[in-house]
Amino acid sequence: MERRYIAEPFKIKMVEPIRLTSREERVRLIREAGYNIFNLRSEDVYIDLLTDSGTGAMSHNQWAALLSGDEAYAGSRSYYRLQEVIRTLTGYEYVLPTHQGRAAEHILMELLVKPGMFVPGNMHFDTTRGHLQMKEGFPLDLVIAEGLQPQFEHPFKGNIDLERLEEALQQYGTAKIPFILVTVTCNNNGGQPVSLSNIRAVRQAAERHGLPVFFDAARFAENCYFIRQREPGYANKNIREIARELFSYGDGCLMSAKKDGLVNIGGFIALRDRALYDRAAEQGIIYEGFPTYGGLAGRDMAALACGLEEVVEPDYLEHRVGQTAYLAQRLREGGVPLVEPPGGHAVYLDVKRFAPHIPQPVFPGQAIVVALYIEGGVRSVELGTAAFTDKDPATGACKLPPLELVRLTIPRRVYTQSHMDAVAESVIRVYRDRAALQGLRVVYEAPVMRHFTMRFELLGS
Ligand code: F0G
Repeated sequence: MERRYIAEPFKIKMVEPIRLTSREERVRLIREAGYNIFNLRSEDVYIDLLTDSGTGAMSHNQWAALLSGDEAYAGSRSYYRLQEVIRTLTGYEYVLPTHQGRAAEHILMELLVKPGMFVPGNMHFDTTRGHLQMKEGFPLDLVIAEGLQPQFEHPFKGNIDLERLEEALQQYGTAKIPFILVTVTCNNNGGQPVSLSNIRAVRQAAERHGLPVFFDAARFAENCYFIRQREPGYANKNIREIARELFSYGDGCLMSAKKDGLVNIGGFIALRDRALYDRAAEQGIIYEGFPTYGGLAGRDMAALACGLEEVVEPDYLEHRVGQTAYLAQRLREGGVPLVEPPGGHAVYLDVKRFAPHIPQPVFPGQAIVVALYIEGGVRSVELGTAAFTDKDPATGACKLPPLELVRLTIPRRVYTQSHMDAVAESVIRVYRDRAALQGLRVVYEAPVMRHFTMRFELLGS
């Protein structure tokens, strides 16, 4: 496979120094952090691949837009500009800003999910699951079987299994299903895209059963780029056209603008239906703010309007997805097992093949995360046993997740090719020394979303 690096389609006019600590310091720092990278100070991290959420660099036009933000409580000019950009992009008429993605989830779930309901989708992100569970609802992850096999090459591993969807719709019906949620791209299994033909079929199924379809659109632009690259008939369409078609199959979307909004904070709900918008705006007033700012400053909305226009630019996306593909290719050349093909925002290590000698219950993914920090000051994140173990609230029994992954998440427009090279070299060294990796035991965990705050000890120490 080709290993070409697409040069950055930007030049740098402001820099933030980063520092590589010594290995001895890192051994101490990670021990003091309870072997949990969430407890590290970012100043002690050399290359930070924890997340692509809110960690991107804004363009000069976005910084300029900040100064033009209208901070009016009601009727802000920046709100109307954002509304116009979102209407053009999605075709959805009604726009409610929120402070980030999970706030949008909160409002929609609060309105539509009742105890005992099921929400089918490809794979719900953890905050989405959390909000559903708070409403005593159940997530139904119906991603295609290929999506759960890291080695299986498939162009659209985020697709929904249409047969299982139909079964769920027949079994539970409109009484028990409030809506279908399609996450583009699908974060939990590798940032994998969903095809337009799959989305169209989901729409048809939803119509047969009289149900609405919503998108979790956090990474919609990356999804559209993959459609252009991989789906027959779309090579000559531009990203805006593809996005318009994608959104045309939905009734609205939830967006964490910290990803493909190219901003450091922000989100929104966009809807077709006026009545639902009115109810969402009522909820928004309680939890977020007046509907023309919804938890954001006017300047945040101004920067977001600008970011949503930049994110669909072909040069931006070619570099973005190309940078991820480059890192994946370097790792492959070093023999490192990955989720294939790589997604848009991250390269995911396939832990079960990387460290098969460490049993899943003693956190093999976390062992790699710790080793990678010690090796190169690189902060990655475990998406496996620590993050996604389901605990039965009644019996305390644990259900281990089907995928055990470590995510190397690339912030937007932040790092260059040489950073990717440094990351690849560190991962390859950890892989060569994999026999030395040690499992971990938990010394503290919270009852929900434990991975953020849990503390570990190394086994054998
Ligand atoms: N949906 C998806 C697909 C996400 O990846 C995230 C966040 C959210 C919703 C929630 O949005 O953070 O703005 O409240 N993902 C981050 C990550 C945290 O690291 O993948 P938020």
